[in-house]
Amino acid sequence: MENEKNRLLKISILRYDPHVKGDKPRIVTYEIEEAPGMTLFIVLNDIREHYDASLKFDFVCRAGICGSCSMLINGRPGLACRTLTSKLDTEILLAPLPFFELIGDLSIYTGKWMRGLNERLETWIHDNEEIDINQLEERMEPERAEEIYELDRCIECGCCVAGCGTIQMNNDFVGAVGLNKIARYRLDPRDKRTDEDYYELVGDEDGVFGCMTLLGCEDVCPKDLPLQSKIAYLRRKMVSMGK
Ligand code: SF4
Ligand code: F3S
Ligand code: FES
Repeated sequence: MENEKNRLLKISILRYDPHVKGDKPRIVTYEIEEAPGMTLFIVLNDIREHYDASLKFDFVCRAGICGSCSMLINGRPGLACRTLTSKLDTEILLAPLPFFELIGDLSIYTGKWMRGLNERLETWIHDNEEIDINQLEERMEPERAEEIYELDRCIECGCCVAGCGTIQMNNDFVGAVGLNKIARYRLDPRDKRTDEDYYELVGDEDGVFGCMTLLGCEDVCPKDLPLQSKIAYLRRKMVSMGK
């Protein structure tokens, strides 16, 4: 039987390095022969190896865990390492995620923004009691632990931020990623912050009342987090506080 010919992919990449004096944004197109099971991670490495060693993009885990390979894939935020070329047309356009600081080409600085968000929302357990290291931690109901684990699957990839219209208009909006973190700590019985404390953090237009239910966040989240229901839960909770 005759072998089916591999498709020829035309990969267009928005190239621009703000750190190179005089550099201008431009689209550069590369032609790559598709291979079985090929991901955009493989494509970009191929381009870097065979066409242009200066191409910038980020990868660490290659398994959808580290969140560093997020980019716009045909205009939609997604993870390059989890995107099979076979799911796309032969003409593919790659661009850096908007909103975040651009390092160069497809490489962006999500870590800096996420660190700022974590500091702002104090995303750690606030326990007022002194820790006795000889004391065993109180058991948590398995259902509760499961719920927390579900929200802890966020990989801080920034796709929900790039897919949210609100944050493009209000740069201080904490986004679905921030509200998901608040929902996570709100669920945790070890966190002794009160409803009032949480209200202080996200009970305004930069928080839960800024969300215009545009739904892009949940649509593009590569971890399929239940962002909508968590935002709605927080909003109900804060409205019921009568403020
Ligand atoms: Fe990425 Fe989803 Fe976390 Fe947003 S909530 S940063 S899309 S994993
Ligand atoms: Fe943005 Fe998601 Fe709300 S896209 S406006 S955070 S529902
Ligand atoms: Fe880690 Fe893609 S390389 S999520």
